[in-house]
Amino acid sequence: MAANPALARAGRGGEVPMAELHCHIEGAARPALVLELAGKHGIDVGGIIRDGAYVWHDFTSFLAVYDRASLVFRDAADYARLAEDHLTVLARSGAVYAEFFISPDHAAGAGMPGKAYLAGLADGVRRATSTTGIEARMIVVGVRHLGADRVEAAARFAAANAVHEPLLTGFGLAGDERIERPQDFARAFDIARDAGLGLTAHAGEFDGAENVRETARILKPSRIGHGVRAIEAPDVVRMLADKGIVLEICPGSNLALGVYPDAASHPLRRLVEAGCRVTLNADDPPFFDTDLAAEYDFAAAAGFGPGERLGFTRNAIEAAFVDGATRQHLLDRLVVSAIALGAPPSSG
Ligand code: ADE
Ligand code: ZN
Repeated sequence: MAANPALARAGRGGEVPMAELHCHIEGAARPALVLELAGKHGIDVGGIIRDGAYVWHDFTSFLAVYDRASLVFRDAADYARLAEDHLTVLARSGAVYAEFFISPDHAAGAGMPGKAYLAGLADGVRRATSTTGIEARMIVVGVRHLGADRVEAAARFAAANAVHEPLLTGFGLAGDERIERPQDFARAFDIARDAGLGLTAHAGEFDGAENVRETARILKPSRIGHGVRAIEAPDVVRMLADKGIVLEICPGSNLALGVYPDAASHPLRRLVEAGCRVTLNADDPPFFDTDLAAEYDFAAAAGFGPGERLGFTRNAIEAAFVDGATRQHLLDRLVVSAIALGAPPSSG
């Protein structure tokens, strides 16, 4: 994957505190870490990394390389390191809060029991929080192209483990959106909802506005991953705005995967102007040559001022899958930053 020229590089985000709701933990693995662990465990990753970058050319090959890279994470310590690295880098770039997606199916693919996977990741989160102060939570995702039964199993895993792991607070749906329909995952979402988990689902990334409408109607998540292709149907945009469904928008991912050909075509501005509640996210940062700061820089280059960018962070914290006291604490931190910036966060 070549450098992502569509993302502005000048500002390096950090001017305003940032928060991220949408990042896949396996997708946050730096190629250097993957190569190091491949060496440690004697795993062949030939062909998926060249010149320090992942090699893929479309969504299908991206998913295949992502799956192969995830195979080098073999034990709880590997995953602790991944989570700690990811959150430490985010905190140093100016993030105060981060959620990330975890996938027990990817752990199983590498021969790891889900419980060890979760315990390792939770260790990494706690280490990063204690050294940097960043607050973080985890969201179990089902991978839709593995089928409804596997997604339901992921929901059961989330429901059973959230009882003893307070950092696990959400359930979501990822994978190839062109496969299966929202109805197929209704039972999984009911299981997660009954367990008190926050809900999010990828939709409107590779499939169109109709899938956003049906995902919202049937699965009733409070957030939609991407959702950008809702822009193709004004009534779907209106529905998102009216219901206050939060969009986890990932501009760098959309550009790298060719959902939009260039920054000018990206609907971020139009969705905000239509009244949608928007957040900024990096999705799978090293795969798309991006990071959260670059996403905030993208917004700055698109004309969003510091107050509006702070508004994206506030939207994320308001939509975060956290308890009320944690949310209030994070919002208080934003007020302090807004005063320092002289820029009250506007609704974005
Ligand atoms: N899994 C990892 N990255 C993804 C993306 N951009 N869309 C759907 N599933 C994913
Ligand atoms: Zn995603």
